[in-house]
Amino acid sequence: MIKHLRSAADLDAATATLILDTAGEMAALAGREVKKLPTLRGRTVVNLFYEDSTRTRISFEAAAKRLSADVINFSAKGSSVSKGESLKDTALTLQAMGADAVVIRHPASGAPHRLAQWVDGSVVNAGDGTHEHPTQALLDAYTMRSRLGRLDGLKVAIVGDVLHSRVARSNVLLLTTLGAEITVVGPPTLIPLDLAAALSPATKVSYDLDSVLPDMDVVMMLRVQTERMQDSYFPSAREYSRRYGLDIARMRKLPEHAIVMHPGPMNRGMEITPEVADSSRSTIVEQVANGVSARMAVLYLLLGGKA
Ligand code: NCD
Repeated sequence: MIKHLRSAADLDAATATLILDTAGEMAALAGREVKKLPTLRGRTVVNLFYEDSTRTRISFEAAAKRLSADVINFSAKGSSVSKGESLKDTALTLQAMGADAVVIRHPASGAPHRLAQWVDGSVVNAGDGTHEHPTQALLDAYTMRSRLGRLDGLKVAIVGDVLHSRVARSNVLLLTTLGAEITVVGPPTLIPLDLAAALSPATKVSYDLDSVLPDMDVVMMLRVQTERMQDSYFPSAREYSRRYGLDIARMRKLPEHAIVMHPGPMNRGMEITPEVADSSRSTIVEQVANGVSARMAVLYLLLGGKA
């Protein structure tokens, strides 16, 4: 088993499949009255969040607690980080406290890689800048597999603000490893020419959502990340929605069995309409629930558990 999960590229097909299978076993636990396993008793998991988060943070906390680990939640707001303490000094503090795993979300791409050089424990990337978010990709792959029965040969469209999306990057890497065929779709300004090719030469690019939909098993909508945009990448929100938003009429172009995903948080009315987000094809709430199982599997396996 690998020690750190910094990138979806850390996972080969066998390791990724082992994590998904283990997540399945963890999910079975969620239906029981007592949801706890004693596996990580006495181990310490630190959640180190330098960026805002709702789902991911709660999910990692729930995952560690269900495995009986001691959990320390650290958020940059209200800590010595606001006094200018560096990531390295914070890492050394965690090291002194004996953290077995550090889950980190950070606005700088590559922060988890640096952290892994300074602590002895396992490092799990919970989102670094616009770079990667590997556990999101794992929970997404898990959701696809449980809804559609397979990943190999699955046709997946990842739609929208690909440029700023760590979710897209990790999904392209992981899903390609597991045999899915990816098409990234969005305005040319948000899918620079070299981007998809740099991720995986097999990734297709399209600027026309309508023509792609009839062929897809999965459509994954991305949030338009205005907080990361210094320039204007499209004329207006309305124009964006008209071309790349998923509404009911567009959803009907998908095959009958296809599912609609979104990692959250959503801009309802921009990249996805409320009717689509709340429809029976949407797996958005399921993705959140699966996130806990996927993160339990990651923590369990990285910290030395057997399948
Ligand atoms: C994503 C993130 O933070 O990268 N959300 C998440 O973790 N569920 C996607 C986003 O912010 O749009």
